Amino acid sequence: MKLLIKSGRVIDPSQNLDAILDVLIEDGVIKDIQGNIEAADAQKIDAQGKIVCPGLIDVHVHLREPGFEYKETIETGLRAAVAGGFTAVCCMANTNPVNDNQEVTRYLLKRAEEVGLARLYPIGAVSKGLKGEELAPIGELKEAGVVALSDDGQPIYDSGFLRRALEYAKYFGLPIISHAEDKKMARDGVMNEGRMSTLLGLPGIPAVAEEIMVFRDIKIAALTGGHIHIAHVSTAGSVELIREAKKKGIRITAETCPHYFSLTEEAVRDFNTNAKVSPPLRTDADIQAIKQGLKDGTIDLIATDHAPHHPLEKETTFEDAPSGLIGLETSLPISLKLVEEGVLTWPELIDKMSCKPAQIFGLKGGSLKPGTVADVTIIDPELTYQIDANSFFSKARNCPFNGWKVKGRAVITILGGEIVYQHGEIKPRTI
Ligand code: NCD
Repeated sequence: MKLLIKSGRVIDPSQNLDAILDVLIEDGVIKDIQGNIEAADAQKIDAQGKIVCPGLIDVHVHLREPGFEYKETIETGLRAAVAGGFTAVCCMANTNPVNDNQEVTRYLLKRAEEVGLARLYPIGAVSKGLKGEELAPIGELKEAGVVALSDDGQPIYDSGFLRRALEYAKYFGLPIISHAEDKKMARDGVMNEGRMSTLLGLPGIPAVAEEIMVFRDIKIAALTGGHIHIAHVSTAGSVELIREAKKKGIRITAETCPHYFSLTEEAVRDFNTNAKVSPPLRTDADIQAIKQGLKDGTIDLIATDHAPHHPLEKETTFEDAPSGLIGLETSLPISLKLVEEGVLTWPELIDKMSCKPAQIFGLKGGSLKPGTVADVTIIDPELTYQIDANSFFSKARNCPFNGWKVKGRAVITILGGEIVYQHGEIKPRTI
């Protein structure tokens, strides 16, 4: 089976490539990249005016299966992923049962294979039941296929426990992804602590609730030599701490999410529960610092923290609504605003949405080098449209960008050399 993508702007930061070229795919791998490839027997895709890049990779999603299938399933989550241009996602362990054992990891992998749309990389829990008390069987989880460990949603309070966990994880070559939040400092906060929380009369979560834990994590990474990846960076102070740690050579990597560089606490002004998220949306000063952090490499990558909830769960008071918003089908157009504003170049954006995620977590893809697995995203950079949450493939609708006019969209998603999504249609295959 051959696929020939003709005349697209091929952007592949993994090999410093940005030029109008053809891409030939054969037997599921990238065979050749050059100007004017001839292959009479190949299925052709005209990519003139389009961007052709390594398939996008999202290292932070919640697929809710097993246990919360009324919010999202592996099937609906992966459909949303390929519609958003993602060929691989890493799923968090806060399911029910928690992914703290081989059975759950194997189940996730089996379901993803049956769905056959995008690669699924499970993230195992650090602690049994996400309780922060007893280590999950890390070696067994690694053997079953997890690519990282995280108690995401729950911070790990016990610093001694995190130290041991990181030493153990290091032995198995796994990063620990940290949900950095001092919930004791956050108390019963439901949004950013500041002017807006005072105006609305809602309890706030101060920026330092995140920064205290980022600082602690950096110190433990330095002590152990283990790799900590800071999830969903939301404050200027966190960016500064991570920047300084990196200068010292400490093994810290970091992600932020589209909502942390495109929305401020203003988004919750009307008690919009779809903008309630953990960590909370912050201020314009934080957005500026996060953009600077993305630009200078302090923040390595963009992930979505796709956190689906049922519409009925969000249709309640701001205090009672669960935290989380979805992002798989909006991440690319919202992140493309960074290119439009001149914060990032196209190659820098692709690097943060594909190459870096693959490199940091040791995943397939993230490159179009010949011989690499043929996971490819084709983007129409000029397509303008209005975000309509009701048209999402995700089961959930908790999207704070609903109604936004955006530009740029994945039009074709290719997994292992086969088209799995094309112009609004899903085409399943078996990986
Ligand atoms: C996450 C979820 O819903 O699983 N929610 C969120 O607001 N990011 C968990 C979490 O990280 O708090």
